[in-house]
Amino acid sequence: MAEYKVLVSDKLSPEGIKIFQQAPEIDVDVKVGMSKEELISCIEQYHGLTVRSTTKVTADVLAAATNLKVIGRAGIGVDNIDVDTASKRDILVMNTPTGNRIATAEHTLALMLALCRQLPQADASLRAGRWEKSKFMGVELYAKTLGIIGLGNVGSAVAERAKGLGMRVLAYDPHIVKERAQDLGVEPVQLSQLLTESDFISIHTPLTPETQAMIGKKEIEAAKPGVRIINCARGGLVDETALVEALQSGRVAGAALDVYETEPLPPDHPLLKLDNVVLTPHLGAATAEAQQNVALDVARQMVDFLVKGKVVNAVNCPS
Ligand code: MLT
Repeated sequence: MAEYKVLVSDKLSPEGIKIFQQAPEIDVDVKVGMSKEELISCIEQYHGLTVRSTTKVTADVLAAATNLKVIGRAGIGVDNIDVDTASKRDILVMNTPTGNRIATAEHTLALMLALCRQLPQADASLRAGRWEKSKFMGVELYAKTLGIIGLGNVGSAVAERAKGLGMRVLAYDPHIVKERAQDLGVEPVQLSQLLTESDFISIHTPLTPETQAMIGKKEIEAAKPGVRIINCARGGLVDETALVEALQSGRVAGAALDVYETEPLPPDHPLLKLDNVVLTPHLGAATAEAQQNVALDVARQMVDFLVKGKVVNAVNCPS
């Protein structure tokens, strides 16, 4: 009989499930779409739990998870997991920080280009039977300044691609390593300089109490008039109320967003009434390649941890 039981509670690419199935020490159950009560009632029997972003691993789920040793997040953000409580209960939380970096960086670039050329609006206009050539006057990325907040896995992949498009790239990251910035051809700056000099600002940090609303009214007022803002990281990094006001007044020329303070975005949200925005439903990591990468990474890491005690990509430090 297998020594460990792993529950996969969100949709995971089959390649990842296969890794669990091939490990003789592990029995894997895939139960997608469970209610919180169903999860609480079955979690006791599992040593490992694999999630993406749908399952909310809250304190009451963890209280019932008396045998749980590891939670694996197939993706980067762990805001759907109560990491502090997991640490107190001696449960390791691990993510897969690199598997979807390219997908998210490419989506960031796609949003920037779509915003500059009003692609969704032009497509909708043509489908409505119009031919409005003069209405959709765009702007170029070439020779513009991009300010990247957070030069980690995704931020640095965005920087490399933006350099390829001929942009000047500034980066604000308190953990920035000067040599790394130099290698990328990026200028490390303070947030105040990034705000005043950037034509485009793209955010690539996790959502924490420190980064919550890090682009708010004050920062928008300090930014270059006509700036365009892209957020492909986490809702809540940009204060949506302040952003909507600035988009309405034209202080911010446009925004391209993939993530929101509340997801799914409520149908009456003021952002949906604005013309100068491009919105996608949290698609940053939604490529076949990225989903395969994160599934393989999380499964390999969890098997290694359960079977060999090897810790990779831990985001907490259990007591
Ligand atoms: C991530 O955190 O990995 C991305 O935002 C995608 C996701 O939430 O699955």
